[in-house]
Amino acid sequence: VDLSALNTFGLRARAARLVRLRSAEQLAAVIAEPAWASAPRLVLGGGSNVVLCGDFSGTVLKVEIRGRRLVREEAAAWIVEAAGGESWHDFVRWTLAQGWPGLENLSLIPGTVGAAPIQNIGAYGLELAERFEGLDALDLRSGARQSFGLQDCAFGYRDSVFKRNPGRWLVTAVRFRLPRPWQARLAYAELVHEVQAAGVSSPTALDISDAVCAIRRRKLPDPAEIGNVGSFFKNPVVDAAHGARLLAGHPAMPHYPQADGRVKLAAGWLIEQAGWKGRDLGAVGSFERQALVLVNRGGATGTDLMRLAQAIMADVEAGFGVRLEPEPVFV
Ligand code: EPU
Repeated sequence: VDLSALNTFGLRARAARLVRLRSAEQLAAVIAEPAWASAPRLVLGGGSNVVLCGDFSGTVLKVEIRGRRLVREEAAAWIVEAAGGESWHDFVRWTLAQGWPGLENLSLIPGTVGAAPIQNIGAYGLELAERFEGLDALDLRSGARQSFGLQDCAFGYRDSVFKRNPGRWLVTAVRFRLPRPWQARLAYAELVHEVQAAGVSSPTALDISDAVCAIRRRKLPDPAEIGNVGSFFKNPVVDAAHGARLLAGHPAMPHYPQADGRVKLAAGWLIEQAGWKGRDLGAVGSFERQALVLVNRGGATGTDLMRLAQAIMADVEAGFGVRLEPEPVFV
């Protein structure tokens, strides 16, 4: 089975078998097969955070379970649920249309609802973990259903228990806690500017969603047009002394002090300073409007991508003493 159309970077890779999962029950039959226990498995949502480095000898489970609903209305929150195969952005816009705001800062992030907690998606001053109520998953070893609360997920920056245990669980449904009364989350300077530029004085959640979409469309390549998986590296965190040393040499360097005294740096800035912004290596390159996004210039392979990633990592390490860590999942 050709996976080219099932990963947004458009890498050419094949899998021995593809199962399109439309219900949780369907999985029981797959797990009951004798070959299941020994074969490798890969869970795919929208394929927007995965790098396929080669052919896959096992079973790919493509999550296509649909459905979304209001679970309940509490005095202080709306609890809303969506199945793992729903489109993330369509779900966000649907909640806004229903009058349940709270996810607007996470508009236009590619991928599915089920994939969103895997890397704890975050953007424009909000992380999924802050709106998370719980999720249902299937344990792929036994087929047993398992529910996870906030603590069980061990969310971190672009991290969770699911990301650290690839192939162990398949997320079938995610529940969100949307606090009421709604309050705008306007902590991200560029978002504030965008809202103001639109001439809105007290923005609604829909205004904020529109502003986020406008910023993303301006800066990030649409995976439907240019293959990419969003940010290719995490924003690195360095200790205070390292941060101060770098700042002394580069006073304009973007930096975000963390609660523990360490400093988060902007990987995109580091890559641009290292001379890689808009530069290609073979069939891949760093995007001209956001250096942190690596793009497929056409016909790229996993090897091309690894080569570019390693070249960028070497130059950033040589120039700044910072080791970048890739953000997507490698298969
Ligand atoms: N910058 C540069 N050159 C570049 C890119 C960025 O100098 O080529 C500078 C910017 O000027 C800014 C700073 O770096 O001062 C941060 O850039 P930006 O606001 O564009 O955000 P980011 O840190 O590059 C992160 C997330 C994005 C998320 C945005 C907005 C990570 C790895 N990435 O990017 O998430 O959309 O913030 O909140 O944390 C993703 O994870 O795939 C993703 C796109």
